[in-house]
Amino acid sequence: MIGKAVSDVVPNLVSAVLLVALSMIAMLGIDWRLGLAGAVALPMYALALRWYLPRSGPMFAAERVAMGERSQALISSMQGARTVRAYGLEKVHLAEIDRASGKARDIATGVFTLFTRFAGRGNRAEFVGLSVILVVGFALVKGDMVTVGETTAAALLFHRLFNPIGMLMYTFGEIQSAGASLARLVGVVNIPAENAPPSGAVPASAELRLTGVRHSYDGSREVVRGIDLRVEPGTRVALVGSTGAGKTTVAAIASGSVTPTAGEVSIGGVPLAELGESLREQVVIVSQEVHVFAGPLIEDLRLARPDATVEQARAALHTVGALGWADVLEDGLDTEVGEGGHTLTAAQAQQLALARLVLADPAVAVLDEATAEAGSAGARDLEVAAEAATRGRTTLVVAHRLTQAATADRVLVLEHGEVVEEGTHDELVAAGGRYAQLWTAWSGR
Ligand SMILES: Nc1ncnc2c1ncn2[C@@H]1O[C@H](COP(=O)(O)OP(=O)(O)OP(=O)(O)O)[C@@H](O)[C@H]1O
Ligand SMILES: [Mg+2]
Repeated sequence: MIGKAVSDVVPNLVSAVLLVALSMIAMLGIDWRLGLAGAVALPMYALALRWYLPRSGPMFAAERVAMGERSQALISSMQGARTVRAYGLEKVHLAEIDRASGKARDIATGVFTLFTRFAGRGNRAEFVGLSVILVVGFALVKGDMVTVGETTAAALLFHRLFNPIGMLMYTFGEIQSAGASLARLVGVVNIPAENAPPSGAVPASAELRLTGVRHSYDGSREVVRGIDLRVEPGTRVALVGSTGAGKTTVAAIASGSVTPTAGEVSIGGVPLAELGESLREQVVIVSQEVHVFAGPLIEDLRLARPDATVEQARAALHTVGALGWADVLEDGLDTEVGEGGHTLTAAQAQQLALARLVLADPAVAVLDEATAEAGSAGARDLEVAAEAATRGRTTLVVAHRLTQAATADRVLVLEHGEVVEEGTHDELVAAGGRYAQLWTAWSGR
């Protein structure tokens, strides 16, 4: 923008100034009265500029800032797409891009409206100048002081001025706009890195609470139909239920990656929506789709915590029982994994996801792992890993293996989007209801 200002604007400016000056001299040369008549328009142009410049300056500056914000939101979301995905922050990021784009659009519309009104003022000056030349010319022709040809020549010369003068006026705008860009470049270092949480509210505890949560993906069929759920700080609640009961949906809602169509989710009394950017510090979901991102193993871990040291990364791997295999990789934690690198087994990928959870160290953890898919022995290891990764955290776990429910503090049985049973494993087994059936089927395999 600044380079453009120098390379385009300067030659344009010089040629426009020359054209205006020469045309004025030519008009004065035809007849000084006709020249003066045309000059009447000049103060009007000046007035238009005086009206425009003070208004456009701040708007250009705001436009640059808004466009910068938009790019920033877009770029950071794209660069961090992996983290965004793994931590279910798509909605938050999309909303931010949406907001930034909306703002840039509104300001751009405002700038254009202003410019249109400015151009209108320029047209008014042209109209008045041409009219005065014609009226004065008419009087002079009547008085036999000039010929019709001379008047016509003056009017045509004046008409030729429209473009260069318009160019001059436009150039002032460009210069100002470039100035705004320059100010923006200088100001880049001052951009705050993160948005403050919308409300600034800090959760009073690590309690996870869902109140009257309902959800429909398509706007008609409700797959979650009024769930109230409370996970007390540091305790573990297991969600069980048959396929399609809505477990994954509830987990996604609890972690803030899906916004329910009704009801509210809060942590320590603060609704997730009000947590803003600090949401990820409060709650992290380990979902069924575990990704191993191409790159060194340690970078994969740092997605959860960019400033993690090697020691912290190793400790996290140790917690989930993955340090053993990680250490014997070709380059240890620097080994390239994922696409084009060393391929990890499904269980290893799952452990990596759990290690990320440990590094992120949120107060609330939501697990919806694909433990059932892993081999039997591996599944047991993963259960131990999940247990270790969530120890001390408020945990909502979708129990694909009922042993996960058996070790939970409380179990919720979900059917068709509703809680049909609730209690401890022992209570529910003793009650002989839906859970007891599931348990008998599970343990009798
Ligand atoms: N993204 C989606 N769009 C539309 N419908 C969906 C979507 N995700 C899930 N559903 C539907 O919502 C219902 C609940 O699905 P959900 O995945 O929450 O069940 P689940 O209990 O996790 O099942 P599973 O045990 O198979 O994982 C199902 O009928 C499913 O088809
Ligand atoms: Mg599911």
